[in-house]
Amino acid sequence: MDKPNSFELTGPEFIPSQYDHHIVRKLSSMVGQYLDIEAYQEILAKDDLVLYEVYEIKRPEVAGELLHGVSIVHPGKVGQEYFMTKGHFHTVLNTAEVYYCLKGQGMMVMETPEGDWAIEELYPGRVLYVPPRWAHRSVNTASNSDLMTFFIYPGNSGHDYGTIEQQGFRKLILEEAGQPKVIDNPRWKAPGAR
Ligand code: PA5
Ligand code: NI
Repeated sequence: MDKPNSFELTGPEFIPSQYDHHIVRKLSSMVGQYLDIEAYQEILAKDDLVLYEVYEIKRPEVAGELLHGVSIVHPGKVGQEYFMTKGHFHTVLNTAEVYYCLKGQGMMVMETPEGDWAIEELYPGRVLYVPPRWAHRSVNTASNSDLMTFFIYPGNSGHDYGTIEQQGFRKLILEEAGQPKVIDNPRWKAPGAR
């Protein structure tokens, strides 16, 4: 655990040659997050699709350590809304994260507890710095390729999923005329309304 360690992360697959956890997140874990509730229920009734996967390299969850791994969001849509991660604030709000896009095409949707928002494009070679305090969600805007990112964040960050489950993200990414479009989330709970 405390010896220097290396592994390979090479294309075109970009599955780490070593990992400790393989997390698989399915449609059923995203209740209330997609705008089109009917489309969500219709797909779920047929198949609990795998939306995204994470390969984690385990490290102690303490300050000073860096947790890292690979996130893979599969292509697809619920209604017009692209497949995406749950998204979260870090439990220790004042912790940042770095993403490096390995493959595919997408967007990172971000917001602060005060309701400031930002969206950054992801494509191979792109490095994204998510500053402390910004919730983050990866969205795959490609029609037929995985969105793959390498991520690194402090060991003590933790994941707060509950806040986003309750308030949603302020912005959603939908497909319109074959292009990604950013819209206001009509169900978003603004800071004053929480
Ligand atoms: O640390 C991160 O932000 C990523 O590793 C995410 O956990 C990953 O992309 C999966 O998303 P989520 O944790 O929101 O389900
Ligand atoms: Ni994070």
